[in-house]
Amino acid sequence: MVSYLGVQIRCVTPQDKDSFFEAYKGVYSSKEEAKAFYRRFLDNGWVSGAWKDHKLIGVLTWTPRECVKNGLAEIIDLWVIKEERRKGIGGKLIDHALEQMKQYYQRFGSKLQRVMLFTGATEEYSTARALYEKKGFHIITTIPQDTLDNLYCNEYLYVLRLST
Ligand SMILES: CC(C)(COP(=O)(O)OP(=O)(O)OC[C@H]1O[C@@H](n2cnc3c(N)ncnc32)[C@H](O)[C@@H]1OP(=O)(O)O)[C@@H](O)C(=O)NCCC(=O)NCCS
Repeated sequence: MVSYLGVQIRCVTPQDKDSFFEAYKGVYSSKEEAKAFYRRFLDNGWVSGAWKDHKLIGVLTWTPRECVKNGLAEIIDLWVIKEERRKGIGGKLIDHALEQMKQYYQRFGSKLQRVMLFTGATEEYSTARALYEKKGFHIITTIPQDTLDNLYCNEYLYVLRLST
């Protein structure tokens, strides 16, 4: 666990399921869908969470992209509640998740080489893009609107290459 300005950053576990699923109320069609989707992430420690006064204030979810021998992981979700933004918590969640990813790849005899993510190309995502770029992610390509699940805007594919 990492403590930072009164905020604890640690893996979200199945024991945290009540506060975790509360935060996703309204995002999925039902609690059952959210549970079905998140079960393996929580079981495997693929969710990093930020807590303040026992309240979940930020989350980063990642997943290995198939076998560890490929060396590629993907960040699939990152958010910090509005009142707690711009205090460095998003950056700390990325740092924590990168450490968990490295340990996971090591555990199965491989090494994390790249981390990918998709994010919107519009103004709405400019903060997220600034954060990713500050952390060393680079744009690889643009995904045109409405070609994957990006119904409303173009997306960028970002990749972070880890030094070998
Ligand atoms: C993106 C998000 C997670 C960042 O969380 P955060 O805790 O505010 O991030 P940090 O405080 O660690 O910010 C780190 C860096 O991001 C950039 N940044 C953060 N807020 C910014 C803002 N309002 N404007 C411009 N740059 C900003 C800066 O480079 C900042 O570093 P600095 O404060 O040293 O200048 C948060 O804004 C969020 O939840 N946004 C809505 C959800 C979202 O867009 N998620 C990403 C989807 S892919």
